[in-house]
Amino acid sequence: MTTTIAELERRREAARLGGGQKRIDAQHAKGRLTARERLAVLLDEDSFEEVDTFVEHNATEFGMEAQKFPGDGVVTGSGTINGRLVFVFAQDFTVFGGSLSERHAQKICKVMDAAMKVGAPVIGLNDSGGARIQEGVASLAGYAEVFQRNVLASGVIPQISLIMGPCAGGAVYSPAMTDFIFMVKDSSYMFVTGPEVVKTVTNEVVTQEELGGAVTHTSRSGVADVAFENDIDALLAAREFFDFLPLSNRESVPERPSSDPAERADESLDTLIPPSANQPYDMHELIRKVADEGDFFELQPNHAANIITGFCRIEGRTVGVVANQPMVLAGVLDINSSKKAARFVRFCDAFEIPILTFVDVPGFLPGVGQEHNGIIKHGAKLLFAYAEATVPKITVITRKAYGGAYDVMASKHLRGDLNYAWPTAEIAVMGAKGAVEIIFRGRTPEEIAERTREYEERFANPFVAASMGFIDEVIMPHSTRRRVALGLRKLRGKQLENPWKKHDNIPL
Ligand code: HXC
Repeated sequence: MTTTIAELERRREAARLGGGQKRIDAQHAKGRLTARERLAVLLDEDSFEEVDTFVEHNATEFGMEAQKFPGDGVVTGSGTINGRLVFVFAQDFTVFGGSLSERHAQKICKVMDAAMKVGAPVIGLNDSGGARIQEGVASLAGYAEVFQRNVLASGVIPQISLIMGPCAGGAVYSPAMTDFIFMVKDSSYMFVTGPEVVKTVTNEVVTQEELGGAVTHTSRSGVADVAFENDIDALLAAREFFDFLPLSNRESVPERPSSDPAERADESLDTLIPPSANQPYDMHELIRKVADEGDFFELQPNHAANIITGFCRIEGRTVGVVANQPMVLAGVLDINSSKKAARFVRFCDAFEIPILTFVDVPGFLPGVGQEHNGIIKHGAKLLFAYAEATVPKITVITRKAYGGAYDVMASKHLRGDLNYAWPTAEIAVMGAKGAVEIIFRGRTPEEIAERTREYEERFANPFVAASMGFIDEVIMPHSTRRRVALGLRKLRGKQLENPWKKHDNIPL
């Protein structure tokens, strides 16, 4: 008995060493943690329960029989984050560069299947050289098995990817189909084809970091959500982020006790809007002043920053926030901001997270580039996402709500449950000057100025919309948190269903 127990301990010890101390040292020398070290940071202390520790690959080509490592390059299992269940896989770069073999893929699929059965999220820590080259098509099959599960799990359990090393070729499509992607700066990259292939095909010379590093994907492409300085920062942020999410679409949002009173008034909001309509202000200030304890987890802060998306809590319960940002491009809706917010709204709707929308939007961005790149279709994504969403929707118009963008931003007409406006709101078909220049084309500048003043007086306010019932109430800015909290409380029992369909056909 003692010898068999000792044998188990010996085997476990061997598995913990992955590809061996030399490769662990190499991993550390790159400023990266190993798969197991990462899981230790991500999960509650001693909560990780590993499965498939002794799985080995089944390859025979290229002398592979002689090179076997228990676990086969991925550490899988489950654990808890602040006491809540999560399933995890962490690719182990010290074993064949974390490359994906048939068995490696089977391990990932097993935890995904388990997560789906019990209804708990999956977090994947990606650090891999891609398909296990010695296995060829068996490896490709393994990827496809994972992809298929990503798709079936989408909207059922939250899926989060952390990219903590290489992630290239077709391998990028598994994270791409998960809900959120976090990356590590100067240490992780994602691309379909690397710099060498790019150079051969298009003659462009580019570094790995420029092509698919954390900064590129969290600012330019919008493929990833947030970039972190190092592994530890990314993993701790993932813990913090996880606390906002429900475990599955069968569970309601998590609730944590909050000492921040729901009726807390913030007088400074009464002067948040600057005297001139063209002066910007920071919409983050409003979000933080409304959120419990000022806590807001922003997603994609550096991509399409003209719209803000992220999670906060109100009365301890998760709320998804979408807000135009007047500080960037005057808060206009363009292709990138529409896509960014649409995907976020759909996530919230899939997981029964109420949506709070703050509106200050001058319209859609004009331009040949926008039109030729499909602002019509991309703008429609956000419209579609808001219109199909059945979760509680509360909207607060702080200043401009012009034109089609007024309709899009969770208006009453798209089944907004509570549509509030501040007294500073201007709800109109367009800005006064533009409107007058069209109606009174050819008139003298003096007359235009006079008519603009008239138009402003008549339309640059919330009362026309309020008189039609499109705004439920014009509220004092300082009471925003109280109004929103009360509204969310009353909307907890909301029931609304869309007509039966196999699925909709959102303009992709
Ligand atoms: C098998 C691999 C591997 C792979 C790396 N290794 N990638 N083994 N299959 N795909 C092994 C190396 O042989 C090495 O083994 C160890 O991992 C570490 O690799 P290094 O090259 O020493 O590390 P580094 O210098 O950090 O470079 C990392 C790397 C590079 C950039 C990822 O290894 C690389 O380019 N690998 C090949 C990438 C690739 O072409 N993958 C296939 C893409 S096609 P030892 O024993 O020396 O430690 C693909 C299709 C997916 O993925 C399609 C899905 C639909």
